[in-house]
Amino acid sequence: MNEKITIKNLKEMKESGEKIACLTSYDACFARIQDEARVDLLLVGDSLGMVLQGGDNTLGVSISDMIYHSRLVSNATKRAIIVTDMPFMSYSTPVQALGNAARLVSEGGAHVVKIEGGSELSETVKLITQHGIPVCGHLGLTPQSIHKLGGLGVQAATNKAAEELEKDALSLQEAGASCLVVECIPSSVAANVTKLLDIPVIGIGAGVDCDGQVLVLYDILGLTPKQPKFSKNFLSGKKSIFDAIKEYVEQVKDNSFPSKSSS
Ligand code: KIV
Repeated sequence: MNEKITIKNLKEMKESGEKIACLTSYDACFARIQDEARVDLLLVGDSLGMVLQGGDNTLGVSISDMIYHSRLVSNATKRAIIVTDMPFMSYSTPVQALGNAARLVSEGGAHVVKIEGGSELSETVKLITQHGIPVCGHLGLTPQSIHKLGGLGVQAATNKAAEELEKDALSLQEAGASCLVVECIPSSVAANVTKLLDIPVIGIGAGVDCDGQVLVLYDILGLTPKQPKFSKNFLSGKKSIFDAIKEYVEQVKDNSFPSKSSS
């Protein structure tokens, strides 16, 4: 597919079994290379709070930061769909969420907005989607709740927690979410959620059976001081950043990343 990727295309990819290759993106220079390497979805993640801004977590990222970086990515992207994170406390009521989602789209050029949380966000997801803005959910490890979770470890590791995650996933879909990110959950739980939902499920540290994969760009280029164990340095042995990103896309598409043992 050479034309602009839409939410409808992501759903078709799920249905046809074509894996969705996604990476975080924060600026025009990398976004152009990622787009040329045929990354399907660019996530302007609030991980920029750590990766770009040097913070300990994502909690200091503002809506203006997200609008700014989303605009940079959108300026350089022709093909990929752009999903932008709503930062901490920018969606604490449905009305506040709608106002900020609208800014990410109109000022930041986002096509989809991503929010962290489960069934408690149903009204928010309904209101945003009713106004024509697609929403991506985010379950499992939700970094904006780092203090509540007590760290950034694996989530949904008990049967009860896995059942709750499945219920949350269904209620986000029911409320109108167009896709879902699942982060740091057992691969068996991610596989079940992927089967359960009609919308695409994108995994990070969640095994190979999701409809797609997302990683932090700077991790796959070996630029971050501490790489998560589910990530991989795709630059090593490659001649260019373009080649590294292309290799990542190919390995997601042919199901060789993540390997069964790494997840
Ligand atoms: O902010 C981010 O980069 C994310 C991904 C890690 C899924 O939400």
